[in-house]
Amino acid sequence: MTQENTGGLPAGRIAALFAAESATYAARHARSQQGTGHGIAGFYDGVPMHWMKDWSMPFPFLVAEARGATLRDVDGHEYADFCLGDTGSMFGHSPAPVADALRRQADRGLTYMLPTEDALAIGPLLAERFGLPHWQIATTATDANRFALRVARAVTGREKILVFNGCYHGTVDETYVRLSDGRAVHRPGLLGQAGDLTALTRVVEFNDLPALEQALAHRDVACVIAEPVMTNCCMVLPDVGYHAELRRLTRATGTLLLIDETHTISTGPGGYTRAHGLEPDLFVLGKPIAGGVPASVWGFTDDVARRLDAVRAATPPGHSGMGTTLSANALALAAMRATLEQVMTPGAYQHMEALAERLAVGLRAVIGQHRLPWHVVRVGARIEFICAPGPLRNGTEADAAHAPALERAIHLALLNRGCLIAPFHNMMLICPATTAAQVDGLCRAFGEVAALLTA
Ligand SMILES: Cc1ncc(COP(=O)(O)O)c(C=O)c1O
Repeated sequence: MTQENTGGLPAGRIAALFAAESATYAARHARSQQGTGHGIAGFYDGVPMHWMKDWSMPFPFLVAEARGATLRDVDGHEYADFCLGDTGSMFGHSPAPVADALRRQADRGLTYMLPTEDALAIGPLLAERFGLPHWQIATTATDANRFALRVARAVTGREKILVFNGCYHGTVDETYVRLSDGRAVHRPGLLGQAGDLTALTRVVEFNDLPALEQALAHRDVACVIAEPVMTNCCMVLPDVGYHAELRRLTRATGTLLLIDETHTISTGPGGYTRAHGLEPDLFVLGKPIAGGVPASVWGFTDDVARRLDAVRAATPPGHSGMGTTLSANALALAAMRATLEQVMTPGAYQHMEALAERLAVGLRAVIGQHRLPWHVVRVGARIEFICAPGPLRNGTEADAAHAPALERAIHLALLNRGCLIAPFHNMMLICPATTAAQVDGLCRAFGEVAALLTA
């Protein structure tokens, strides 16, 4: 078994920091502890969703409210929120245009399986912004990926998909495949899996063009599903020219390309796709597209649409396996329109980009000052510090760079200093409401924690 990365620090020092920060946290969160410390009554494992217990805190705090980039707990503490619901609130908590749209829609009915006039605005906005002509709305990014993959299989007549080692595209069954000693295996932790997912999925390392070429040469892969930058392991950037080759190889083998922008929408108003001129056949965006209200979108080209028409014409009537009852409900449409028209604006991104760079520079300065063998990666408004040297080139390297005990201690120490970052990895997001003072506060807190760890 390989040893856990400790970021170049003694394990004992990390454990001591975590113990001290846990005690501080517990002492400051009496009311939250009363609510969650012994598990919330009625819920399996004491929480509404099991991963709410996987944060760094000894017990979760109860949120009282959040607005913009600031979150408050029931114990009266205020946090600069750099987690932002792990991207769901990437444009800030309750942006005013979204809150207004929700209030307007609230008295007009919430869901009726028919379009509203908001849909008339949204369709052209999606087409114009993301450069694809055909769109559907779903409720989560997971759903959107699942439906897009179903279309890819339907129009190519191929069963397999290809994923990159270390990927995450939501709870889409076929993507729960990893490389282990060069072999495809089920992702660890997967529960209740009945079939063999490796029969349907090829998996290769990101940035490995020969492996990709070989995997696609069988011409049995319907679709490659990819984040343009891997963001769900420690962040991995594409090599220069990688996306052009990915596109060339997929086209040459009749394989469709699905770009999942759910996290990389941090790059700009049209995502990484627009900023870097990618040419996906299918495109998915979930999480923040309706300002935090559950909704996602998936789009495709004219060519895919024509082929889908042909398949549908030859298919008996019945359920397509795509869509859920609440997909494209009136409330989600209202929130999505407000987000697209008034929140996800170039001006908002300019602010996010500038402060994200300020944060990256600040974090790098701390790392340099303390001579830590760590690095910082940024994709637009998304920043990650990684407690290992970089750059990382694939999922295996990203996996080895993970430092669970160290990261847990740092997260908790930052939280006790008023800064909330994403759990499970060291991700921080800047939203349109984030202030320079909040960014500087996080850099300061990071510096204090680094000093404690290296003292
Ligand atoms: C790239 C990517 N795609 C899809 C998803 C799934 O999103 P959801 O959980 O909202 O379905 C995630 C979630 O983290 C993601 O990072």
